[in-house]
Amino acid sequence: MANVAFLGLGVMGYPMAGHLAKGGHDVTVYNRTASKAADWVKEYGGKSAATPADAAKGQDIVFACVGADDDVRAICVGEDGAFGAMTADALFVDHTTASAEVAREMDAAARDKGLYFVDAPVSGGQAGAENGVLTVMCGGDEVAFDRAKPAMDCYGRAVTLMGPAGAGQLTKMVNQICIAGLVQALSEGLNFGMKAGLDTDKVIDVISKGAAQSWQMENRGRTMTRGEFEFGFAVDWMRKDLNICLAEANRNGARLPVTALVDQFYATVQARGGNRYDTSSLIHLLMND
Ligand SMILES: NC(=O)c1ccc[n+]([C@@H]2O[C@H](COP(=O)([O-])OP(=O)(O)OC[C@H]3O[C@@H](n4cnc5c(N)ncnc54)[C@H](OP(=O)(O)O)[C@@H]3O)[C@@H](O)[C@H]2O)c1
Repeated sequence: MANVAFLGLGVMGYPMAGHLAKGGHDVTVYNRTASKAADWVKEYGGKSAATPADAAKGQDIVFACVGADDDVRAICVGEDGAFGAMTADALFVDHTTASAEVAREMDAAARDKGLYFVDAPVSGGQAGAENGVLTVMCGGDEVAFDRAKPAMDCYGRAVTLMGPAGAGQLTKMVNQICIAGLVQALSEGLNFGMKAGLDTDKVIDVISKGAAQSWQMENRGRTMTRGEFEFGFAVDWMRKDLNICLAEANRNGARLPVTALVDQFYATVQARGGNRYDTSSLIHLLMND
């Protein structure tokens, strides 16, 4: 069992930190909005700290799950950032979905201080975090990964080292690119079915047993046809992720024509006030136009 800190108790971080506590680790939490840290301590025990540095001091591993690139920079190397307080050889594991660039930058900053950095974005959403069944895609040093994996197993069911620093973020980009095109195709198919006067529940039942089957079809198909879009992973987050993918593709030369288009469809969902709708809301544009 390790002494650990968890920085960022949002939709994902709160239950992930909870699984670490339930797994027997000694957990200190930090959250920018302190009331959430107080709630967490009330629920799980452990301690809370006022800054990332205070939380990180003396820990074996510091975990984080915040918003985007600049938030990662702030909690690692900003004022009262964790790196300044960590002892040599300690690990920092970042579960934020961010760019590969910031992962490499934090990896270099960590090395300068004799620390290890692992980029470890997750997939599986709020339900995956609450049920402790996330997919965790890691980039970094093998020694660091091996040391962090037993703790990550508290909330992950597929925790895998993908390569050097940034490889976890790059793998998450592949994940988001695959989802974007798929959700648009599912939206078009289901909207077509409704316009054709079919019973779409029956359509989903039958075609989800064939080659068109997908997690999105089985878990979101029925709610999409009912115009229900309150399932966690918000359009605002998806646009952040797709923009990271598009920027990386600009660098590596991959072409992402459908992803770029779907990003613009999500921009339209935002413009119509759907920022907090979940990603299956693409069908909303087809149903209402
Ligand atoms: N939600 C999902 O289904 C899901 C799935 C996979 C991956 N992700 C990724 O996981 C990350 C977190 O998502 P989430 O849904 O948990 O977000 P969230 O509920 O908005 O929580 C974000 C957390 O980060 C903290 N934070 C943000 N910027 C900060 C800063 N500059 N300094 C200190 N703390 C900061 C927030 O503190 P406050 O409480 O003070 O605002 C909050 O605790 C994102 O990168 C997201 O893309 C989310």
